Amino acid sequence: MSQIIAVTAGKGGTGKSTTSANIASCLAYQGKKTLIVELDFGLRCQDIILGINGNVRHDIGEYLEGKIDIMNATTKVERSENLSLVCATKNPFIEINPEKIIGVCEEMREYFDYIIMDTAGIGSSVFSVIKAADLILMVTTPDTVCVRDGAMLSDFLYVKNCVNQRLIINKVPVKFKDEEILYDLDEVMDTVGIPLIGVVPEDSEIRVCGSKGKPLPKGSAGFKAYDSISRRILGEKVPLSINID
Ligand SMILES: Nc1ncnc2c1ncn2[C@@H]1O[C@H](COP(=O)(O)OP(=O)(O)OP(=O)(O)O)[C@@H](O)[C@H]1O
Ligand SMILES: [Mg+2]
Repeated sequence: MSQIIAVTAGKGGTGKSTTSANIASCLAYQGKKTLIVELDFGLRCQDIILGINGNVRHDIGEYLEGKIDIMNATTKVERSENLSLVCATKNPFIEINPEKIIGVCEEMREYFDYIIMDTAGIGSSVFSVIKAADLILMVTTPDTVCVRDGAMLSDFLYVKNCVNQRLIINKVPVKFKDEEILYDLDEVMDTVGIPLIGVVPEDSEIRVCGSKGKPLPKGSAGFKAYDSISRRILGEKVPLSINID
Protein backbone atom coordinates (compact mmCIF):
# COMPACT_ATOMS: atom_id res chain seq x y z
CA MET A 1 0.00 0.00 0.00
CA SER A 2 1.57 3.28 -1.06
CA GLN A 3 1.72 6.34 1.14
CA ILE A 4 1.47 10.02 0.23
CA ILE A 5 3.46 12.18 2.65
CA ALA A 6 3.28 15.97 2.80
CA VAL A 7 6.28 17.73 4.29
CA THR A 8 5.19 21.13 5.53
CA ALA A 9 5.97 23.88 8.03
CA GLY A 10 4.43 27.05 9.41
CA LYS A 11 7.46 29.10 8.47
CA GLY A 12 9.83 29.33 5.52
CA GLY A 13 13.39 28.08 5.64
CA THR A 14 12.77 25.50 8.36
CA GLY A 15 14.11 22.68 6.22
CA LYS A 16 11.13 21.24 4.34
CA SER A 17 13.06 20.64 1.12
CA THR A 18 16.15 19.27 2.87
CA THR A 19 13.95 17.00 4.99
CA SER A 20 11.97 15.79 1.96
CA ALA A 21 15.13 15.02 -0.02
CA ASN A 22 16.89 13.19 2.80
CA ILE A 23 13.94 11.16 4.04
CA ALA A 24 13.12 10.22 0.44
CA SER A 25 16.77 9.20 -0.08
CA CYS A 26 16.68 7.02 3.04
CA LEU A 27 13.42 5.35 2.03
CA ALA A 28 14.89 4.69 -1.43
CA TYR A 29 18.07 3.34 0.16
CA GLN A 30 15.90 0.90 2.09
CA GLY A 31 14.53 -0.41 -1.18
CA LYS A 32 11.30 1.57 -1.35
CA LYS A 33 10.37 3.12 -4.68
CA THR A 34 10.11 6.78 -3.79
CA LEU A 35 9.01 9.89 -5.65
CA ILE A 36 9.43 13.50 -4.59
CA VAL A 37 6.85 15.93 -5.95
CA GLU A 38 8.28 19.41 -5.55
CA LEU A 39 5.66 22.13 -5.13
CA ASP A 40 7.82 25.21 -4.60
CA PHE A 41 6.73 26.85 -7.83
CA GLY A 42 9.25 29.40 -9.05
CA LEU A 43 11.90 28.34 -6.55
CA ARG A 44 12.94 24.81 -7.40
CA CYS A 45 15.80 23.33 -5.40
CA GLN A 46 15.36 19.55 -5.25
CA ASP A 47 17.38 19.09 -8.44
CA ILE A 48 20.35 20.74 -6.73
CA ILE A 49 19.97 18.88 -3.42
CA LEU A 50 19.66 15.54 -5.24
CA GLY A 51 22.59 16.21 -7.57
CA ILE A 52 20.64 16.25 -10.85
CA ASN A 53 20.89 19.95 -11.61
CA GLY A 54 21.19 20.17 -15.39
CA ASN A 55 19.58 16.77 -16.03
CA VAL A 56 15.98 17.89 -15.59
CA ARG A 57 14.35 18.02 -19.01
CA HIS A 58 10.75 18.60 -18.00
CA ASP A 59 8.85 19.73 -14.92
CA ILE A 60 5.40 19.78 -13.38
CA GLY A 61 4.62 23.17 -14.92
CA GLU A 62 4.70 21.67 -18.41
CA TYR A 63 2.42 18.90 -17.18
CA LEU A 64 -0.05 21.40 -15.67
CA GLU A 65 -0.06 23.30 -18.96
CA GLY A 66 -0.96 20.08 -20.73
CA LYS A 67 2.25 19.92 -22.77
CA ILE A 68 3.52 16.56 -21.50
CA ASP A 69 2.25 13.59 -19.52
CA ILE A 70 3.31 13.13 -15.92
CA MET A 71 5.79 10.31 -16.66
CA ASN A 72 7.70 12.71 -18.90
CA ALA A 73 7.81 15.22 -16.06
CA THR A 74 9.53 12.62 -13.86
CA THR A 75 13.34 12.61 -13.60
CA LYS A 76 15.30 9.65 -12.26
CA VAL A 77 17.79 10.53 -9.53
CA GLU A 78 20.98 8.94 -10.81
CA ARG A 79 22.66 8.27 -7.49
CA SER A 80 19.74 6.29 -6.12
CA GLU A 81 18.17 3.29 -7.82
CA ASN A 82 14.73 3.84 -6.30
CA LEU A 83 14.39 7.60 -6.26
CA SER A 84 12.68 9.91 -8.77
CA LEU A 85 11.69 13.56 -8.79
CA VAL A 86 8.92 15.62 -10.32
CA CYS A 87 10.59 19.01 -10.34
CA ALA A 88 8.79 22.26 -9.59
CA THR A 89 8.37 24.67 -12.43
CA LYS A 90 10.74 27.62 -12.64
CA ASN A 91 7.76 29.76 -13.60
CA PRO A 92 6.24 31.40 -10.47
CA PHE A 93 3.15 32.43 -12.43
CA ILE A 94 1.89 28.91 -12.99
CA GLU A 95 -0.66 28.23 -10.25
CA ILE A 96 -0.70 25.09 -8.15
CA ASN A 97 -3.85 23.31 -9.26
CA PRO A 98 -4.71 21.15 -6.22
CA GLU A 99 -6.95 18.70 -8.06
CA LYS A 100 -4.28 18.04 -10.67
CA ILE A 101 -1.49 17.70 -8.10
CA ILE A 102 -3.57 15.28 -6.04
CA GLY A 103 -4.38 13.43 -9.27
CA VAL A 104 -0.66 13.11 -10.02
CA CYS A 105 0.05 11.68 -6.56
CA GLU A 106 -2.85 9.25 -6.76
CA GLU A 107 -1.74 8.11 -10.23
CA MET A 108 1.79 7.59 -8.97
CA ARG A 109 0.63 5.24 -6.20
CA GLU A 110 0.72 2.48 -8.80
CA TYR A 111 4.45 2.97 -9.43
CA PHE A 112 5.85 4.17 -6.09
CA ASP A 113 5.73 3.03 -2.46
CA TYR A 114 6.19 6.56 -1.13
CA ILE A 115 5.22 9.87 -2.72
CA ILE A 116 6.68 12.79 -0.82
CA MET A 117 5.32 16.26 -1.47
CA ASP A 118 7.74 19.07 -0.67
CA THR A 119 5.18 21.79 -0.02
CA ALA A 120 5.82 25.51 -0.01
CA GLY A 121 4.07 28.55 1.37
CA ILE A 122 0.62 28.58 2.87
CA GLY A 123 -2.43 29.26 0.79
CA SER A 124 -5.69 27.55 0.07
CA SER A 125 -4.24 25.56 -2.83
CA VAL A 126 -1.39 24.24 -0.67
CA PHE A 127 -3.85 23.33 2.12
CA SER A 128 -5.97 21.41 -0.34
CA VAL A 129 -2.92 19.46 -1.46
CA ILE A 130 -1.73 18.75 2.09
CA LYS A 131 -5.20 17.49 3.04
CA ALA A 132 -4.86 14.70 0.49
CA ALA A 133 -1.78 13.24 2.20
CA ASP A 134 -1.88 10.06 4.28
CA LEU A 135 0.77 11.48 6.61
CA ILE A 136 1.84 15.07 7.32
CA LEU A 137 5.37 15.74 8.52
CA MET A 138 5.44 19.12 10.25
CA VAL A 139 8.95 20.55 10.31
CA THR A 140 9.89 23.14 12.89
CA THR A 141 13.12 24.46 14.28
CA PRO A 142 13.25 24.98 18.07
CA ASP A 143 13.07 28.73 17.49
CA THR A 144 10.08 30.29 19.30
CA VAL A 145 8.62 32.01 16.24
CA CYS A 146 8.92 28.88 14.16
CA VAL A 147 7.36 26.73 16.90
CA ARG A 148 4.38 29.07 17.23
CA ASP A 149 3.82 29.07 13.45
CA GLY A 150 4.09 25.28 13.39
CA ALA A 151 1.51 25.05 16.20
CA MET A 152 -0.88 27.34 14.35
CA LEU A 153 -0.59 25.40 11.11
CA SER A 154 -0.93 22.09 12.92
CA ASP A 155 -4.09 23.28 14.72
CA PHE A 156 -5.56 24.52 11.47
CA LEU A 157 -4.89 21.18 9.81
CA TYR A 158 -6.48 19.32 12.74
CA VAL A 159 -9.60 21.44 12.36
CA LYS A 160 -9.62 20.39 8.71
CA ASN A 161 -9.50 16.74 9.83
CA CYS A 162 -5.82 16.18 9.04
CA VAL A 163 -5.11 14.16 12.15
CA ASN A 164 -2.17 12.05 11.01
CA GLN A 165 0.55 14.59 11.74
CA ARG A 166 4.05 13.96 13.05
CA LEU A 167 6.59 16.49 14.21
CA ILE A 168 10.21 16.82 13.07
CA ILE A 169 12.33 19.21 15.10
CA ASN A 170 15.08 20.34 12.74
CA LYS A 171 18.28 22.34 13.14
CA VAL A 172 18.61 21.48 16.78
CA PRO A 173 21.91 22.91 17.96
CA VAL A 174 23.74 20.16 19.76
CA LYS A 175 26.91 20.85 21.64
CA PHE A 176 29.50 18.18 21.88
CA LYS A 177 29.78 15.45 24.49
CA ASP A 178 28.94 16.62 28.01
CA GLU A 179 27.76 20.12 27.17
CA GLU A 180 24.11 20.97 27.37
CA ILE A 181 21.47 20.93 24.65
CA LEU A 182 20.32 24.51 24.28
CA TYR A 183 16.60 24.02 23.68
CA ASP A 184 13.87 22.34 25.66
CA LEU A 185 12.51 19.91 23.09
CA ASP A 186 9.68 18.78 25.41
CA GLU A 187 8.39 22.34 25.34
CA VAL A 188 8.56 22.38 21.53
CA MET A 189 6.53 19.15 21.39
CA ASP A 190 3.99 20.44 23.93
CA THR A 191 3.52 23.70 22.06
CA VAL A 192 3.07 22.18 18.62
CA GLY A 193 1.03 19.40 20.15
CA ILE A 194 1.70 16.53 17.75
CA PRO A 195 3.68 13.31 18.25
CA LEU A 196 7.39 13.54 17.56
CA ILE A 197 8.84 11.39 14.77
CA GLY A 198 12.39 12.67 14.87
CA VAL A 199 14.98 15.25 15.78
CA VAL A 200 17.56 16.43 13.25
CA PRO A 201 20.65 18.22 14.52
CA GLU A 202 21.93 21.49 13.13
CA ASP A 203 24.75 20.04 11.08
CA SER A 204 26.89 21.91 8.57
CA GLU A 205 27.32 18.65 6.64
CA ILE A 206 23.57 18.69 5.86
CA ARG A 207 23.86 22.21 4.42
CA VAL A 208 27.06 21.50 2.49
CA CYS A 209 25.86 18.19 1.02
CA GLY A 210 22.55 19.82 0.05
CA SER A 211 24.20 22.67 -1.80
CA LYS A 212 26.71 20.37 -3.54
CA GLY A 213 24.12 17.75 -4.46
CA LYS A 214 25.97 15.05 -2.56
CA PRO A 215 24.39 12.32 -0.40
CA LEU A 216 25.01 12.54 3.33
CA PRO A 217 27.81 10.21 4.48
CA LYS A 218 26.28 7.09 6.02
CA GLY A 219 27.94 7.56 9.41
CA SER A 220 27.08 11.24 9.77
CA ALA A 221 24.75 12.58 12.46
CA GLY A 222 22.40 13.93 9.79
CA PHE A 223 22.16 10.61 7.96
CA LYS A 224 21.45 8.75 11.20
CA ALA A 225 18.65 11.21 12.05
CA TYR A 226 16.96 10.91 8.63
CA ASP A 227 17.49 7.15 8.59
CA SER A 228 15.74 6.84 11.96
CA ILE A 229 12.80 8.94 10.77
CA SER A 230 12.45 6.90 7.59
CA ARG A 231 12.47 3.67 9.59
CA ARG A 232 9.73 5.01 11.85
CA ILE A 233 7.72 5.84 8.73
CA LEU A 234 8.23 2.23 7.67
CA GLY A 235 6.77 1.14 11.00
CA GLU A 236 9.99 0.07 12.73
CA LYS A 237 10.42 0.80 16.42
CA VAL A 238 13.50 3.04 16.55
CA PRO A 239 14.34 4.74 19.87
CA LEU A 240 14.17 8.52 19.82
CA SER A 241 17.59 10.05 20.36
CA ILE A 242 19.72 12.88 19.07
CA ASN A 243 22.73 11.49 17.29
CA ILE A 244 25.96 13.27 18.00
CA ASP A 245 29.09 12.50 15.99
N1 LIG B 1 19.47 20.13 10.00
C1 LIG B 1 20.08 21.09 9.30
N2 LIG B 1 21.34 21.50 9.62
C2 LIG B 1 21.95 22.48 8.93
N3 LIG B 1 21.40 23.13 7.89
C3 LIG B 1 20.15 22.78 7.52
C4 LIG B 1 19.43 21.74 8.19
N4 LIG B 1 18.22 21.61 7.58
C5 LIG B 1 18.19 22.52 6.59
N5 LIG B 1 19.34 23.23 6.54
C6 LIG B 1 19.69 24.33 5.64
O1 LIG B 1 18.74 25.38 5.85
C7 LIG B 1 18.48 26.04 4.63
C8 LIG B 1 16.96 26.02 4.36
O2 LIG B 1 16.58 24.68 4.18
P1 LIG B 1 15.43 24.27 3.16
O3 LIG B 1 15.63 24.93 1.84
O4 LIG B 1 15.34 22.79 3.19
O5 LIG B 1 14.18 24.93 3.88
P2 LIG B 1 12.70 25.08 3.31
O6 LIG B 1 11.80 24.99 4.49
O7 LIG B 1 12.47 24.12 2.21
O8 LIG B 1 12.75 26.56 2.74
P3 LIG B 1 11.61 27.28 1.85
O9 LIG B 1 10.59 27.78 2.83
O10 LIG B 1 12.36 28.37 1.17
O11 LIG B 1 11.06 26.25 0.91
C9 LIG B 1 19.29 25.34 3.56
O12 LIG B 1 20.48 26.04 3.36
C10 LIG B 1 19.58 23.96 4.18
O13 LIG B 1 20.79 23.38 3.71
MG1 LIG C 1 11.78 24.44 0.22
